[in-house]
Amino acid sequence: MTTVDYSQKIPNNVNLGDDRRLQRALEAWQPAFLNWWDELGPAGSSDYEIFLRTAIDVSAKGWAHFDMVKMPDYRWGIFLGDKEENRKIGFGAHKGEDAWQEVPGEYRAELRRLIVTQGDTEPASVEQQRQLGRTCPSLYDLRSLFQVNVEEGRHLWAMVYLLHAYFGRDGREEADEMLMRHSGDEDKPRILEAFNVPTTDWLSFFMFTYFQDRDGKFQLNSLAESGFDPLSRTCNFMLTEEAHHMFVGESGVGRVVERSIQLIKEHDTLDIRQHGGIDLSTIQKWINFHFSICLDLFGQEKSTNAANFYNMGLKGRFQEMKIDDDHLLDNDIYMIPEIEGNRVIMSETGALGSINERLRNDYRDDCQRGMDRWNKMLAGAGVDFKLSLPHSAFHRNIGIFADINADVKGNIISQQEWDASINDWIPTPEDRAFVESLMVPVTEVGKVAGWIAPPARGIQGKEPNFEYVRFH
Ligand SMILES: [Fe+2]
Ligand SMILES: [Fe+2]
Repeated sequence: MTTVDYSQKIPNNVNLGDDRRLQRALEAWQPAFLNWWDELGPAGSSDYEIFLRTAIDVSAKGWAHFDMVKMPDYRWGIFLGDKEENRKIGFGAHKGEDAWQEVPGEYRAELRRLIVTQGDTEPASVEQQRQLGRTCPSLYDLRSLFQVNVEEGRHLWAMVYLLHAYFGRDGREEADEMLMRHSGDEDKPRILEAFNVPTTDWLSFFMFTYFQDRDGKFQLNSLAESGFDPLSRTCNFMLTEEAHHMFVGESGVGRVVERSIQLIKEHDTLDIRQHGGIDLSTIQKWINFHFSICLDLFGQEKSTNAANFYNMGLKGRFQEMKIDDDHLLDNDIYMIPEIEGNRVIMSETGALGSINERLRNDYRDDCQRGMDRWNKMLAGAGVDFKLSLPHSAFHRNIGIFADINADVKGNIISQQEWDASINDWIPTPEDRAFVESLMVPVTEVGKVAGWIAPPARGIQGKEPNFEYVRFH
């Protein structure tokens, strides 16, 4: 069951060949996908041969095969995680009932909405990162970018499969819409705000894979708890791929910090821009920006939608089954922030209504781990600087903090104070221009741009200086 059938036009482990109608429908969507990839996928890359991994199995070990592949020839397919026999719904009003193998009719609209919202982010990120290949800091990094891109394309396939297989006509229409909305498009933008701005430099790319892809991890984890079993299984396998995206982000930012430390020591100053490095306060601004826009992705602190999704058994909490409570949450409380006068205070509210806030907090804790790791590097090198996540109140567009201005420590400030300091907190056009000025492509085998340290290891047993991408 777990092995993927590659003899099919669409590789899959869902016995697609047994369902002619579905197979035909997906085979009809395939050219539209390839067309989209060609138009809005990685620019100018179709002839490159890239050392890519392709899923061949969904088991935890040895699920991937590595080879030199041209991206248009990548075998995007449909892979569900293994089926757990007799799986039960773990939370909400249907707790203890058999997991659904078909869409529960009464929750159809909600389930479709969850799948569409998740699915929309996948092609969005490919579109956002479309121009990055032109300015890669090394062939190793170029490979990482393309690996992330093809897998986000595959994640789109994962959601489109669910729409086609379980939602009939309107599912097919939603699948078509996935290729019609485009990141940053004025008329038909992507659904979520953080997926509508282009990723124009590699520092942003590493931040994106650190912060935005980590949002993906938390969303996918909550959806993997779903009582709708096909969604749970597809998310479980997507998470395996997602782990690599976050590795790209964490190791990428880590290498930028490492290089900055070298330059700080070499020139005995924190002001390393003149020496071709990215100074730590610039890195901090990128963190402030990406983290704050990602917090918005979790939605309102108090949300009836989220409570309903939970009650219905459609979307759980992060690692729901490891939490020691009744998984109903009718009588539980949770602390959420509130504005009182000129301060942020914590106040008690029902746990069911604050599912979003809980997920946001879990996400924050996970984001913090990278800060700790990079701060250890800084402390170890004797550099007196600490990277930190800004307060949740900082630079927010959704939830209670959207109406106020707060500094990075969470103090509420006036518009005047905000205007006077914002340039110290998030990237200015000048900061962006500076970082972009460093984005000079390095495509010589084994060479790495001057603003980032080389990778510690290569990919899949290859040396760091392996020719990961061949241009033709
Ligand atoms: Fe993804
Ligand atoms: Fe991802």
